[in-house]
Amino acid sequence: MRISHLIIKKKLNKELTTEEINWIIDNYINGKIRDYHMSALLMAVCFNGLSDRETVDLTLAMRDSGDIIDLSSIEGTIVDKHSSGGVGDKVSLVLIGIIGAIGVPFAKMSGRGLGHTGGTIDKLESIPGFKTNLTVDEFIDNIKSINVAIAGQTSDLAPADKKLYALRDVTGTVDNISLIASSIMSKKLACGCDAVVLDVTTGSGAFMNRTEDAIELSKKMVNIGNSLGKKTIAVVTNMDEPLGNAVGNALEVAEAVQALKGYGPDDLMEVVYTIAEYMLIAAKKTKDIDEAKELIKSVIDNGSAYNKFIEFVEKQGGDSSYVRNYDSLINASIIREVKSEKSGYVQKINALKIGNASLILGGGREEIEDEIDYSVGIVINKKVADSVKTGQVIAYIYGNDESKVEAAYKEIISAYEIDGKKINKPEMIIDIIE
Ligand code: URA
Repeated sequence: MRISHLIIKKKLNKELTTEEINWIIDNYINGKIRDYHMSALLMAVCFNGLSDRETVDLTLAMRDSGDIIDLSSIEGTIVDKHSSGGVGDKVSLVLIGIIGAIGVPFAKMSGRGLGHTGGTIDKLESIPGFKTNLTVDEFIDNIKSINVAIAGQTSDLAPADKKLYALRDVTGTVDNISLIASSIMSKKLACGCDAVVLDVTTGSGAFMNRTEDAIELSKKMVNIGNSLGKKTIAVVTNMDEPLGNAVGNALEVAEAVQALKGYGPDDLMEVVYTIAEYMLIAAKKTKDIDEAKELIKSVIDNGSAYNKFIEFVEKQGGDSSYVRNYDSLINASIIREVKSEKSGYVQKINALKIGNASLILGGGREEIEDEIDYSVGIVINKKVADSVKTGQVIAYIYGNDESKVEAAYKEIISAYEIDGKKINKPEMIIDIIE
């Protein structure tokens, strides 16, 4: 087989066989297929797509490129959660406290930021000392002792996805339904949990801008998961404006801690509650949504969700004083107010532009090797449907470099659409697919 022939085959919109897909993944992992070949192939896939059979083949080839973690020594139904990505998406951080406090084993392999979206691993690493490169034994031991563990994707777990994910991030080849479905599901299948709840985002800050694409992605992933014996539920959520108020690594940790203390913004909490409810149902911990809701509320109200998050941070080597006193996490040298140039109601906040503003400030990566500045980001002060007057602060920029703050300012101003029409707050939960 020759990679250049297979690139041309995909360019001509022909189906790749199972053998060809396995060959591509094997040879990409062992370095015989170079990044420039793979980039061309990924771009052809972005234009022409993959069939359902090709998507399953790619998922399995990536799952089998590394180890499959055996979590069978952990008692109970082990749940996992994964988001298809967004701006201000700190849902996983809040779930760690909630699901852990309820006593359901929560095993999560997470990724780093991708494109304009943030990643849970990067956010957690803004806590000094926090370690995400757990060995499999540490991962299992942590779940056994405190119910929760989050690990970065090790080089042994779906390594083909790890390598492809990093390449897609810098080659404009993220936003394809089959590539996202196989990327997410290969990791979920390799991770060894019993059930998974997927948060499939849609809107300007998601990889799937259109609801129908998010639903198609959800169906693909639910079919892959359920047909391979893993209970899979997808919750399609609104990511048309940033979720919550904070965007940026340390700022999002601080907002997640506030949420665990019972002060989370409404839109964030609606998504957190819904995902947590389905995780509890999938884990057979509660029989219905109402019972799940009560349980979630109780662990937030009695402080056990917050305490579990502290325990989790300490268990993974983090300095919990930064969580207890999260102001110490927020140490950008410049804080700039962004003021409205109009009066009216906020009609839209383009989440992609806000994600890009965070990237410009240094909160994400433009190149694979880029170092992240954990302290930078944006705090949204006026959300969609809020009324605003000319000169009022719509957002705050946290930065460490004047020229980057200036560029982020322009991006944020252009993200806001304000006019006189009064509108309702957007619906956060768009669909549930199981
Ligand atoms: N999350 C993933 O794990 N993979 C993708 O391709 C997109 C989001």
